[in-house]
Amino acid sequence: PDGTHVDDHGRITVAGVALADIADQYGTPSYVLDEMDLRGRCRTYREVFPEAEIAYAGKALLTRAVASWVTEEGLALDVCSAGELAIALSAGVDPRRIIMHGNAKTPAELAAARTAGVGRIVLDSVTEIALLASSLTRRQNVLIRVTPGIDAHTHPAVATGVTDQKFGFPLAHGQADDAVRRVLGQPRLNLVGLHCHLGSQITDAAHFATAVHLMVGQMAQIRLDHGLILTELDLGGGHGICYRPDDPQLDLSTLAGAIENALDEACARYRFPRPRITLEPGRAVAGRAGVTVYRVVSVKHITGGRTFVCVDGGMSDNPRVALYGARYSVALANRHSSAAPAVVTVAGRHCESGDELAVDVELPSDLHPGDVLAVPGTGAYHHSLASTYNAVGRPPIVAVRDGRSRELIRRETVEDLLRREASR
Ligand code: LLP
Repeated sequence: PDGTHVDDHGRITVAGVALADIADQYGTPSYVLDEMDLRGRCRTYREVFPEAEIAYAGKALLTRAVASWVTEEGLALDVCSAGELAIALSAGVDPRRIIMHGNAKTPAELAAARTAGVGRIVLDSVTEIALLASSLTRRQNVLIRVTPGIDAHTHPAVATGVTDQKFGFPLAHGQADDAVRRVLGQPRLNLVGLHCHLGSQITDAAHFATAVHLMVGQMAQIRLDHGLILTELDLGGGHGICYRPDDPQLDLSTLAGAIENALDEACARYRFPRPRITLEPGRAVAGRAGVTVYRVVSVKHITGGRTFVCVDGGMSDNPRVALYGARYSVALANRHSSAAPAVVTVAGRHCESGDELAVDVELPSDLHPGDVLAVPGTGAYHHSLASTYNAVGRPPIVAVRDGRSRELIRRETVEDLLRREASR
């Protein structure tokens, strides 16, 4: 996080709080969240895209506090389940500032969105168009999710811009045209714009420019076919961040320039009025604000093999290594060490050999049980992807600000897990 320093004892501090003290006070593993870092990234978005609507993608990390922070900073909120919607509403988020997503929203979820009065619902299937239309008693603003057919070169598990995947209506073969026709045939559905999401962890701004051209082209086609001028273009999220110091990331000013130019060109080419742009960043708002602290449990040297530093968390609090081959850096957080560096694998506590947090990272060779390790870049898609594998409760989220810490979510206990079970 932005607020990271090293104090005189070699201890890593975030927002003036030593990570080792967090490990002592709240236990390990714990997710630490730098409030001002997260708020600062919201502000940067507002500054770099003054005319756009920035809707934070809650799937990255959503708690009541996070929902309050992002909305206080002027962001709207994208939710994709009744659960995320409930968290947002319980934080007091204005429902008109909520966008509801999902490729398989259930009738109950659509009802919850409708009852709450969410600002926009993003339609994703023919079934959903009919279902929502038949259940509405008043007009509802909607967007149609379109798949522009762009390969943004991300991990296949998060590449959503290509045509052959489950989300949205492909521009190809007139499927998006068909969706538009169906929506316009429903008087209670008020079509205000189009949406697309190209994928996640994208580092090349050119893909967003391509999307603008294709989407404005489609909006011009809708004007031609139906005489309707759509005013909103939601370009989704997917802005890539660096997890390790040398990783590429998407520069937001570059992105702003690319979108601006593409809008100028496309709107001139089609003589189409400039739509209002919405962006839905999740990772780029929350990712770097988080750091996970672990305690070393054992250090094991395999003769003729690797050195494993085993910690008290792992794939239950960070499944991204196993899911996407994600790479992280790791730092010793509780003391200074002048020992020579050693190349080690930081492994988790779970019952699979693939439960590794970082492979071949350099850490001091004098690491020992009790040491505290910090893994940065864990604010987005860590708590939200966490599981209770091996009946290990999910870690707390500890917010830090101005030298103080407070728990946003407490650790999940064995009692919590047992509470879901029948008594015998
Ligand atoms: N909008 C829509 C419609 C989305 O589906 C997503 C992410 C976003 C916005 C936000 O994307 P972001 O800016 O955070 O990249 N679990 C994966 C990421 C899955 C993203 C799914 N959709 C990971 O840990 O990398």
